[in-house]
Amino acid sequence: MADEDLPFDAVSPTYRRFILDNLSHYGIDPERFWRPLPGADEMFFKALLPNYERDVDIAAFKFTESTLRFFDTYRQIVDQVFGGFSNLSSVMDFASGYGRLTRLLEQRLRPEQIWVSDIYADAMAWQANAFGVNTVVSAPDPDAVTHAGTHDIVFVGSLFSHLPSGLFERWLQRLYAMVAPGGVLAFSVHDVGFLPAGETPDPSGLSFYRTSESGSLDYDIYGMSYVTEAYVAAAVAGLPGAPTYRRFGKGAYENQDLYVVAGPGRSLDGLRVASTPMGGFETATALTNGDVEFAGWAHERTAGARIERLRVWVDGVDRGVVEPSSERPDVLRHFPDAANTPVGWVFRLARERTPAGALVRVDLESGSGLTGRLYAEFPPPTAITYSGWSRRPLKGGGL
Ligand SMILES: C[S@@+](CC[C@H](N)C(=O)[O-])C[C@H]1O[C@@H](n2cnc3c(N)ncnc32)[C@H](O)[C@@H]1O
Repeated sequence: MADEDLPFDAVSPTYRRFILDNLSHYGIDPERFWRPLPGADEMFFKALLPNYERDVDIAAFKFTESTLRFFDTYRQIVDQVFGGFSNLSSVMDFASGYGRLTRLLEQRLRPEQIWVSDIYADAMAWQANAFGVNTVVSAPDPDAVTHAGTHDIVFVGSLFSHLPSGLFERWLQRLYAMVAPGGVLAFSVHDVGFLPAGETPDPSGLSFYRTSESGSLDYDIYGMSYVTEAYVAAAVAGLPGAPTYRRFGKGAYENQDLYVVAGPGRSLDGLRVASTPMGGFETATALTNGDVEFAGWAHERTAGARIERLRVWVDGVDRGVVEPSSERPDVLRHFPDAANTPVGWVFRLARERTPAGALVRVDLESGSGLTGRLYAEFPPPTAITYSGWSRRPLKGGGL
């Protein structure tokens, strides 16, 4: 049975406030962004929601947060390669599902500049109706996709991370043919370092498993795959002109690597795609003097970068900078092959200076230029955090 559509007002006021604050830092119109999530959207209803124990508030927050992180990735490519959205002619979001990224792209580009494609015809009809964008219904076989257009950016989020050997190369060929001169093809994969514990990598460089979140796609065309860079490099070398590529570890989603392949005549020199810092609140403890001590973790996923400041805001007022208090190697199990060790942090808020119901935010300001934002409410226990694929409840308190 299909899920019901999820409107924004199904989310509790506390979490709506977290979401609205987060969107405001990106200049995103929340009403347009938060069109009801269609019940047929497997990415939300079959992956995100069950991963957060069907807690609509947390899943809605994580949906928004992950989409903004996705956008951080996208706009770095737009800014560095093309000099901004205003210089783009058209873009293609391939395997776009119900348009997580379209919710943001349609706020930066005209609908006629945006092309989306997915194997789900219903998702394409939904996006055409909701956003007025151009749609292409895809197919199991790359050669059956007749789309003749070319685009500045062909972005493929989380399809190659599901492809078996053979189809991996054929989709790469097909999608590279959609790249306009001077454009780029960007796609995400699971690196072999993310292979589930105890699994032995396939000697070919691509390990494939017949499992996925999809309720309908055949495992022959969509499972779970993990690749070595050598495997991807060989596939890219087989493209016309053997183009150059760049790999950005953890450059997409939480744990996928991003590969950017240069279209004809395009140089990728100097391109640097950083990952948004991540973190979470873990505990809130009432102290005998009435203050509250909050603690949590933060993780810089970008190699060569570090979180330079953790800044605490209460109801939009800067309450100062917190120094990381410890290393948190325990968090690493959620981030295999991490470039940096996660850190812990602790800070206190005085009860008399903190109104009940205050919005508490910690900004993770990275030297990469990106900022991750963590949210809680004062007094706790309302707070969210992150532990790999699932929710870790806020502990402590007595408040
Ligand atoms: C993990 S979801 C990612 C969706 C979207 N990119 C995002 O990040 O929210 C993978 C998507 O790939 C689509 N897909 C699978 N096989 C496909 C194919 N042969 N052609 C186009 N899309 C396909 C699925 O329908 C699904 O929407």
